Amino acid sequence: MKALVLSGGSGTRLRPFSYSMPKQLIPIANKPVLEHVLTAIRDIGVTDIGIVVGNQLRAISAALGDGSALGVRSTYIQQTEPLGLAHCVAIARDFLGDDDFVMYLGDNMLPEGVAAVAAEFRAKRPAAQVVVHKVPDPQAFGVAEVAADGSVLRLVEKPARPRTDLALIGVYFFTPAIHEAVSAIEPSARGELEITDAIQWLVARGETVRASEYSGYWKDTGRVEDVLDCNREVLRTLTRSVAADVDEVSEITGPVVVEPGARVVRSRIEGPAIIGAGTLVEDSHVGPHTSVGSHCVLRDTRLDDSIVLDGASLSRVRGLYGSVIGRSAAIATVPPPEAAPEAAPEAAPEAAPGAATGVTTGPRMASSRHRLVVGDHTRIEVAA
Ligand code: G1P
Repeated sequence: MKALVLSGGSGTRLRPFSYSMPKQLIPIANKPVLEHVLTAIRDIGVTDIGIVVGNQLRAISAALGDGSALGVRSTYIQQTEPLGLAHCVAIARDFLGDDDFVMYLGDNMLPEGVAAVAAEFRAKRPAAQVVVHKVPDPQAFGVAEVAADGSVLRLVEKPARPRTDLALIGVYFFTPAIHEAVSAIEPSARGELEITDAIQWLVARGETVRASEYSGYWKDTGRVEDVLDCNREVLRTLTRSVAADVDEVSEITGPVVVEPGARVVRSRIEGPAIIGAGTLVEDSHVGPHTSVGSHCVLRDTRLDDSIVLDGASLSRVRGLYGSVIGRSAAIATVPPPEAAPEAAPEAAPEAAPGAATGVTTGPRMASSRHRLVVGDHTRIEVAA
């Protein structure tokens, strides 16, 4: 069996990050979503993986390389125009050959994995096996009508009046029967060749199409809120591992990963949380539900429920929550312009040494809570 991972699309809902990186590379617990996807595929024993990319081939191949670091072999397939999920299958025809394959949308996270679905597909080999999940807003998805025995009666892409609440959630298993279906369908109203229509074509032809319900946590990481929610969920499953330099007055509680080469000084890390390699956390309180990427600097900062991407720096930023801070962004609270000459030499925390971790005093920003969504390489200075 092979795998086809779809990693195109413009990611407009994930601006500003999608201006400077493919949305599939946004990190969840410090690993790009695509890395979670490839790992999930490897976990069902599939290692030959085609990755369909749009105009972001360079960034995606730089992040994943040939896949060997993850124990898979990746082949990149370029889609020059976003003409739909079924179009991706068509352009991957040479790669797929006559093998069965699993198709996985590169921005969908199913942390509990799809081992049971894969086993059922391998045992029964229906023409197609889809994964469905109960959602509150089925009109935003492909929707399935499923018989009691698991066979699919009908599939409709984004119906105005959904007949069930079972959405297709981005993982599909196919035999080569899908190729004839893909070449038979016409573009939808949005001008795309829909995989939902191709599978419905199989149903209408009397082929066996089955659905498996996935009842675990699922997220399409399309928006910042979804990314933060997914991050919280994945962080919850961390196993504590502190492979770094943590000084005696720092406190680390709960499921926390501190990666090698990180330094934690006079700080408190409250799990679930992860601190990336080479990052410095000083006089700060991080977590819970927070990921800090690699080579970041956090000084006199308080943040929870947030994601900080690689290379970012936060200085005297207190009370951040629900925030995503882009790569190499720099955010600092600075003295007001008129006070700058006197205040600058005394920028140290006001609290006594050792008590600096639960920062609640100091300039005005200290007592309030802030949400920031800040793109890559952005610089923000707020006067205290
Ligand atoms: C696509 C599919 C849809 C599926 C969804 C899952 O929608 O067309 O059937 O339910 O992915 O995320 P799109 O994200 O292209 O709107």
